[in-house]
Amino acid sequence: MTLTRADLAKLPSYVPGRSVPGAIKLASNEVPYGPLPGVVDAVVEAATSAHRYPDMGVVALRQKLADRLGVPAERVATGCGSVALAEHLVRAACLPGDEIVYSWRSFEAYPIIAAGAGAASIRVPNTAAHGHHLPAMAAAVTDRTRVVIVCNPNNPTGTSVREAELDRFLDDVPDDVLVVLDEAYREFVTDDQVPDALDTYGDRPNVVVLRTLSKAWGLAGLRVGFLVGQPEVATAVRKVVTPFSTSLVAQAAALAALDAEDEVRRRCAIVIAERERVTEALRKLSVDVPASQANFVWLPLGDKTAEFGAACENRGVIVRAFHPDGVRVTIGTPEENDAFLAAAEAALA
Ligand SMILES: Cc1ncc(COP(=O)(O)O)c(C=O)c1O
Repeated sequence: MTLTRADLAKLPSYVPGRSVPGAIKLASNEVPYGPLPGVVDAVVEAATSAHRYPDMGVVALRQKLADRLGVPAERVATGCGSVALAEHLVRAACLPGDEIVYSWRSFEAYPIIAAGAGAASIRVPNTAAHGHHLPAMAAAVTDRTRVVIVCNPNNPTGTSVREAELDRFLDDVPDDVLVVLDEAYREFVTDDQVPDALDTYGDRPNVVVLRTLSKAWGLAGLRVGFLVGQPEVATAVRKVVTPFSTSLVAQAAALAALDAEDEVRRRCAIVIAERERVTEALRKLSVDVPASQANFVWLPLGDKTAEFGAACENRGVIVRAFHPDGVRVTIGTPEENDAFLAAAEAALA
């Protein structure tokens, strides 16, 4: 007899990017430029009320997000990072035995979220070009499927799906299946064929868009994500959200960060230029790096993955190795990227 669910024994744990004192961390898809202007002051001010509960309805932040996005606030839900919202969405949509379809390899939280709800993970292998195979994903939908997740751009491969493919996919998926478009890296997209899910599909009844303030907006440590869905979906999610999970400090920080959009754009532009530079440099080293639309690049190194990760670490650069598929490397400052490229050149020699 076990005190907890026996099936969890087989479930891999979420592996966070490692931090090693003194090493350069390019393992967690963070943006390296510190909190946005105004955020630290907002956090300090909010901390003076730390003995009070936060606004459970997250009214001010939801309204500010809604105004930015041009949707009513009733369509917005916030959570303790978008990863928590993905979990709440699944909790709101799935009963044990239901199915969740997603591409694999993709964000490593998806299998954990599915298993947590007792739902079956239906993994559709990535294409040879490391992207989602949308027709195969649509074909994998059955009567038991409640949720399909499209990670666009995809973590960890950086690939993206374009509007024409997504149009077809959304037409193929039945109306009673929720399609979650996870856009954690939306701010780094430069390909104009890759749609902004909210602008393009926001009116579809079964589409839910997931976004985060962890990456481009620099709040990874404070944990704020949000989703936009139709009012019934957002209301159902808010019902199952852990009460008060968008903390007082997180709400204040998010409100301040949203006032710094120009700075976000400036930082993203640097990250994007560096992404292209790092991609080119790696291709010169004969690594077949797929074009990335995110703030990281993917090195499909197969069975050399673990060895490459360890070699980078020995040279003081922490990357994320997903053995035996490949290595994901977050774009850091230009100096950090140079250090990574030097380590990569040595590791590949
Ligand atoms: C695709 C994707 N979705 C969601 C998240 C979750 O981000 P957060 O919980 O920090 O908002 C991540 C984080 O790495 C991610 O890569």
